[in-house]
Amino acid sequence: MEEGNRSTVTEFVLLGLTKSSELQLLLFVIFLAVYGATVLGNLLIVALVACEPQLHTPMYMLLGNLSFLDFCYSSVTAPNLLAGFLLQAQTISYRGCVAQIFFFHFIGGIKIFLLTIMAYDRYVAIFHPLRYVAIMSQAVCGGLVGASWVGGFIHSIIQVSIIVQLPFCSPHELDNFYCDVPQVVKLACVDTFAVELLMVSNSGLMTLLGFLVLLVSYSVLLAKLSTRSSEGRAKALSTCASHLTVVTLIFGPCIYIYARPFRSFPMDKAISVLYTVVTPVLNPIIYTLRNKDVQLAVRKLR
Ligand SMILES: *[C@@H]1O[C@H](CO)[C@@H](O)[C@H](O)[C@H]1NC(C)=O
Repeated sequence: MEEGNRSTVTEFVLLGLTKSSELQLLLFVIFLAVYGATVLGNLLIVALVACEPQLHTPMYMLLGNLSFLDFCYSSVTAPNLLAGFLLQAQTISYRGCVAQIFFFHFIGGIKIFLLTIMAYDRYVAIFHPLRYVAIMSQAVCGGLVGASWVGGFIHSIIQVSIIVQLPFCSPHELDNFYCDVPQVVKLACVDTFAVELLMVSNSGLMTLLGFLVLLVSYSVLLAKLSTRSSEGRAKALSTCASHLTVVTLIFGPCIYIYARPFRSFPMDKAISVLYTVVTPVLNPIIYTLRNKDVQLAVRKLR
């Protein structure tokens, strides 16, 4: 990397969520509570899945993985959000910014692959119940999870390797509460059209296609289920419904942010808050804590 090319920018100024000082303290308290609940809720699920033998099935292993990732995902950005409410001017070093983008996309990428694996897991469980244990063995499940980490890494390293080649000049004020690709690319002092196109196709198109595949898969699943009249149908339906809810909550904002030109729109920051801070706290509630087996495990833990 030619240091000279990057001119003098060694840090970025994060403009944060809001400038209104009356709101700062209130928002700080609210988001501190949300982040606290994210950490507690998700780590509780990780602990339950690890400790409770009844939950040692692929579905719960995958949910445990998702909770762990949600905890990490929120922890990459929430500290910046919270600090932004307390500090007058928050800066982030160039390296810190690149690291944040790396981890943000690494974990986000894994989550998206994981959701696909979870859909496949439900498909096998519902339509091939007798062969389920053989198809989704420990080894297969572990292999799929490993593959999703590799997928996330490749996705992220592509973004980062492009970002680090961009030259930055002042002003270097980043209009968000954390570093992400669209805002950082906008600060580069070269024509970034080709870069944007590449980034949009990496993040945007990938999430859009993944979302469509999952939407079609769950529709097929639900349609097939509706022709059944068994006892397990209600349970399967409720599981699929909560999966679809989480899939929509995760993919919706991602598509909004990445599958379009990197211009800023009024709703951008609200959507950023939604998918960095709010979705991770909702996942454990929607997916797991409503679930009978998990409720039982919580009671046993007490
Ligand atoms: C994640 O999934 C793997 C493979 O099934 C499993 O061995 C591991 O315990 C899971 N991790 C968590 C935190 O649930």
